[in-house]
Amino acid sequence: MGVSSNLKRLIDAAAPYWAGEAEVFRSYWTWDKRSRETDRQWLAYQCSKEVWGSGLAPLDKGIFLGPAEQLVAMFTKIDIEHDRHEVLDIAEGLWAEFAHYTAFADAYDGMAEPGEGKINPQMLKNSWKEDLDLSHLRFAHKKENPKLGARATSFTEGGYCTLFSEGMKLKAQTSGLHGKRNALIAEACSKVYDDEFGHMLKGIVGLDIEGLTQDEWRHLERISVEQLKGRIVMRNSQFGYPLTGKTLDDALGGRLPPLTFDYAKAEARMAA
Ligand SMILES: [Fe+2]
Ligand SMILES: [Fe+2]
Repeated sequence: MGVSSNLKRLIDAAAPYWAGEAEVFRSYWTWDKRSRETDRQWLAYQCSKEVWGSGLAPLDKGIFLGPAEQLVAMFTKIDIEHDRHEVLDIAEGLWAEFAHYTAFADAYDGMAEPGEGKINPQMLKNSWKEDLDLSHLRFAHKKENPKLGARATSFTEGGYCTLFSEGMKLKAQTSGLHGKRNALIAEACSKVYDDEFGHMLKGIVGLDIEGLTQDEWRHLERISVEQLKGRIVMRNSQFGYPLTGKTLDDALGGRLPPLTFDYAKAEARMAA
């Protein structure tokens, strides 16, 4: 991928925070407080994010109803006011995020004991505090600067897919106390990983041709890092606070060894 030095600097600024988010999951998988109940809790929270969107869409509509209403409103104006590719893009986004809800909801239901009810989007409407904080931060950034706020929101979406890449690795640990649940989590994460990598790339595509000024690049970097810190806090609370003390401080301070951005994979996806 031919990336400018500005874009590379943005990615370099994000990489230690992506590592911080990954550290939450790595710590959680082997945590002594992990149980079937805590697994069901984080999965329910994840399902809530996949339906209601964490600041990617208005809170009352989320990423199912929001695009669904947009599609209905667009239908009579396709190729008149709205290019068909723009419409397809929205339809794909709706499909993908609902597929993610389905994957994690299947894992949640797969961990149920007899008599426990199934999950549904309506019972997930109330997000948790740290996730709402992230939503509000993203809305505030969009209000402050609509163009860069939207860019930062897509760029930080999914946090370099670390939940999904770390979750996929559980495929190798399907025996023992958490074995059966690891298999369910790995299966859900592998269904979601590629889509979310693509969603992050959407935040990057076109950045280099937008002709941002140096001030705008700095602004974008600042708000992206703020959102990435908010993501670590949100993930840590989603998983019941497996990160504490110095590791948490280092994660939030951007002092963990950075994740390596896979330029080759990004290039291959963008060419596809
Ligand atoms: Fe998703
Ligand atoms: Fe997504």
